[in-house]
Amino acid sequence: MDKLLIVTSRAPFSYRTQGGRNIRVSNVGGVATALNSVLKKYSGTWVCWGDSRIDRAHEEEEVEGYTIRRIYLTDKEKFGFYNSYSNRVLWPLFHYFRNNIQLDATGFKYYYIANEKFAGAIMEKIDSKTTIWIHDYQLMMIPSILRNMGINNNIIFSWHIPWVSPEFFSILPEGRFLARSVSKANLITFHIRLYEKNFRNTLEYNNIKPVNHFKTLSVPLGIDTKLYKPLTGKHGLHHMKKVSIIFSIDRMDYTKGLIQRVKAIDKVLSYRRDLAGKFVYLMNVTPSRTGIPEYDEIKRQLEMEIGRVNGLYSTSSWVPIVYMYRKIPFKSLLTIYSNGDIALITPLVDGLNLVSKEFVATTRKGVLILSKFAGAADGLKGALIVNPNNINEIASSIVRALEMSKEERKLRLEKMKKYVITKNSNWWYRRIINVADSNYDNA
Ligand code: G6P
Repeated sequence: MDKLLIVTSRAPFSYRTQGGRNIRVSNVGGVATALNSVLKKYSGTWVCWGDSRIDRAHEEEEVEGYTIRRIYLTDKEKFGFYNSYSNRVLWPLFHYFRNNIQLDATGFKYYYIANEKFAGAIMEKIDSKTTIWIHDYQLMMIPSILRNMGINNNIIFSWHIPWVSPEFFSILPEGRFLARSVSKANLITFHIRLYEKNFRNTLEYNNIKPVNHFKTLSVPLGIDTKLYKPLTGKHGLHHMKKVSIIFSIDRMDYTKGLIQRVKAIDKVLSYRRDLAGKFVYLMNVTPSRTGIPEYDEIKRQLEMEIGRVNGLYSTSSWVPIVYMYRKIPFKSLLTIYSNGDIALITPLVDGLNLVSKEFVATTRKGVLILSKFAGAADGLKGALIVNPNNINEIASSIVRALEMSKEERKLRLEKMKKYVITKNSNWWYRRIINVADSNYDNA
């Protein structure tokens, strides 16, 4: 590969005002971290969306050895592209949330316009040798737009959320159009085989004939294990040392199974009164997509449920659920991973879930309870795998984890650590780039 250009909806860095000054903040997230290291290596360009007024002053900048090129959307475009089509049509569709899908033809119009803006910025930055690597559901129209402009470059499309079954996908009025566009990439990657198969079946079911040769690949994103070393010493959680710490870290999203988890804690305490006071559930939820009705609603319901369960079991010296609704700094994340005894990661549907891998990499003693509907469950064989809809099963896994012997914990963890260390973020991008290169050369 000669040159690389990456395209994502979210920017790796954005600007915000703090104490009267503009400061640059990095949008830490699994995908962004992995892509940051790829670009540092290839010193290419990152095309993304600048989602704040201050970002506007930084349309183009050099950061850590590569170029960031931001595109801008008007309020109307943002609303149609982001709030409406990406988050109220595509997101619920690809997570099987039928009742949350708000079909919106106007939203699609702005989604298309936004994708055209991304394509315009890509055009400025490529030559015929540049490999274009597009990410996720916000950008599905870009391959078609580029091909229509006569671009024959090597295009990789990496899909980071689930791909649903063909009949479910066909709910979408614009479905054929979108799937056909994705198929115009040269290589399309998914995190697990199931999503890859669903994508291929979707093309067949909708009778979409490929216009070019394309390859699909399942390769789960890994983490940069260097960043996840346990913190030693007392780091903020020492006052909880006498109880077992169960924790979770998620975006506030209806796909995450947050309410079911709170109900599971209720179940544990109602059946095992003796466990009251023996553990604490540290529930960190990051604000996400605020202002979108379904997101505001899940927050309201979750907070009511937490209040109900805490009200039932709290004493003057103990509260079962410690709820934190904010984005926590990286060091606090490491503190939680290092001191947590049980990670309770039970999304109803999740493309992958990197928190589970980050915990496995960091912890020296922990147990992972993981939903069978998280893509990460494919590789993390040492986890206690649960059906996140089954409150009784979550509750009994919590009890099992609390009472698990040291030997069993160690055995399960060793297996998973080996996997997380070998299948890391470098492995992920190297594999994709190798396959993309050879596939394009042979086409
Ligand atoms: C998921 C998606 C990403 C998205 C992220 C945060 O992980 O796969 O594409 O960027 O959520 O969502 P946001 O709406 O804040 O970009």
